[in-house]
Amino acid sequence: MISKETIERIIETAKIVDVIGDFVSLKRKGANHLGLCPFHNEKTPSFTVSEAKGIYKCFGCGKAGNAINFIMDYEHMSYVEALKYLASKYGIPIEERELSDEEKNLINERESLIIVNEFAANQFADVLFNHHEGNTIGLSYFKERGFTEKIIKEFRLGYSPSERNYLTKLALSKGYKLDKLEKLGLTIVKSSTESIDRFAGRVMFPIFNLTGKVIGFGGRTLSSDKSVSKYLNSPESIVYNKSKVLYGLFQAKQEIIKLEKCYLVEGYTDVLSLHQSGIKNVVASSGTSLTEDQIRLIHRFTENVTILYDGDFAGIKASMRGIDMLLSEGINVRVVLFPDGEDPDSYARKHGAAETLKFISENEVDFIGFKISILKEDAKNDPVKKSNLIKEIVKSIAVIDDDIKRTVYIKECEMRLEIEESVIYSEVAKIRSKIINDQNKLQQIKERTIASKIPKLPSYAPGITYEEQENLIIRILLLYGNEIITFRTDNNEKIDIKVADYIIYELKNDELELKNVVHEKIFKIIDEINQKGEEIQVSFFVNHPDPEISKTAINVITDKYKISKIWERFNSTPVSEEKNLVEILLSLFILYKLKILRELQQKLQSELKSAIENHDAEKKSELLVKINETVKLINELAKHGNIVIL
Ligand code: CTP
Ligand code: MN
Repeated sequence: MISKETIERIIETAKIVDVIGDFVSLKRKGANHLGLCPFHNEKTPSFTVSEAKGIYKCFGCGKAGNAINFIMDYEHMSYVEALKYLASKYGIPIEERELSDEEKNLINERESLIIVNEFAANQFADVLFNHHEGNTIGLSYFKERGFTEKIIKEFRLGYSPSERNYLTKLALSKGYKLDKLEKLGLTIVKSSTESIDRFAGRVMFPIFNLTGKVIGFGGRTLSSDKSVSKYLNSPESIVYNKSKVLYGLFQAKQEIIKLEKCYLVEGYTDVLSLHQSGIKNVVASSGTSLTEDQIRLIHRFTENVTILYDGDFAGIKASMRGIDMLLSEGINVRVVLFPDGEDPDSYARKHGAAETLKFISENEVDFIGFKISILKEDAKNDPVKKSNLIKEIVKSIAVIDDDIKRTVYIKECEMRLEIEESVIYSEVAKIRSKIINDQNKLQQIKERTIASKIPKLPSYAPGITYEEQENLIIRILLLYGNEIITFRTDNNEKIDIKVADYIIYELKNDELELKNVVHEKIFKIIDEINQKGEEIQVSFFVNHPDPEISKTAINVITDKYKISKIWERFNSTPVSEEKNLVEILLSLFILYKLKILRELQQKLQSELKSAIENHDAEKKSELLVKINETVKLINELAKHGNIVIL
């Protein structure tokens, strides 16, 4: 599809620092550039880019590659898509011939969905500027709200006509497929003969990915009818994952990097108004409560976030929650509270750009100042409320990982609240020791089961099927997930841990996914419940509306005999499930990992065989070292599990 010459030209032209710099904030360090890895969650940078070699490597998670691999991995693009992306970035023309039917099928789903979204966005914009209804209703609405044509064009705002199937009809007539329109939520299929536009009669806000392509839409109604929901958003699709998107980031990212700061607002219109006022480093969580993924996304560009929320109760509550999440991700948090009833957009509209900027800079306070200003009035003469205020603030300080930052905040807290430093220290220490304790427990168990040293390979389990093994995992999660078990380490120390925490940790740490999709579904739900700190309830799964889930849940909890056979196979003394959870769990995961190691050993040995055949001495000695290590791990694991290796 793309000629060899063009590919070579793209590879020669693409500068890796430049390419990755669009997505990750990179700082020069010696010969390399360093940043936070976009492929795993980290707080100190280990993602290294070498300009000279044209490669990147993360020393945390091991991901590595060149500029094209980066785009493929990061944007989930195919090789050809990545080449096209780079070609358009550097203005390299691609001579493309007409696609054959076969090639058309090859263009993956993702790319074609984005093409349909792009088409829709272009149509909505066209209607806004060039059609009577778009002009008189849509455009005049935006203008009335004070948006200039410049900002409207930059954010590609549009209007979806009130005719109930305008877009659907147009798209179908141009050859776009109904199933794509439906998947993207642009069209609602009512029956085989009737399909209607989801967004009819709304002004449209396209939502972009980091490369500026449209992945979804928000549509605002212009009707004041309270029964119509103000905003309709695109449903989740393979191109649009709400919890991982921040509105405005594409337009803001360069400015965020430059100013080393990001403003966080609630809505589409807040982003637009501030952007228009000259505050371009602004993104919105779009009404949903802030997610961890969104925070990580911001963190890749900056360490400094200022929350700009409404001064009403909901706004304050939302910022309180956001603060601790941001802090625990290592972000420096400041807050600006707008006067009650005003959001950044309405404020900017009323007072103009200059005054808005002034308001923000004069009212920006760190999170301690913010919490104090919210709670202090109340706390003044009430000792109980004052101690609650202190707890509130201490809670936030305790989640900060950085020792120096934490100390600075404690000092600050002492001065502002007039309480003794030592009191705050001991309160912070209490909470931190719980946080650290939780982390340590997992660390110790991790070391004990040697999970960290086991390479991530596809799992393999001779003798016992995955189905059986997974049934046991789900059974234990459902029946005993809430229970606390006590592990004993080799030096007879006790570690208490919740069963669900342990299992979730063992699976997630090795990035193992359960093979059976229903098992994996149940596991994910349990993980969510557990993260929220709620109890796992068997009845919830037994009565689950998804019949597959309820059926599986019922099977695993009733099928005791069959399941207990599994662990009897590797632990000859018959034991009671309830009383021997620790042994069962340890054996289960040890056996599981043993199988993975056995497979690795086999693979290495067959590689060794061909290295010997090819007289490749270097490879041979490298493989011998690896095999040796693997065998050592196998023996160690087997010893832990009292398993005899033949
Ligand atoms: N939102 C949503 N669905 C709703 C209401 C709100 O998705 N039913 C999201 C939108 O992203 C919106 C944000 O939450 O931008 C903030 O909501 P709100 O403050 O009500 O909207 P504004 O952006 O302020 O819009 P407007 O000023 O036009 O009322
Ligand atoms: Mn508003």
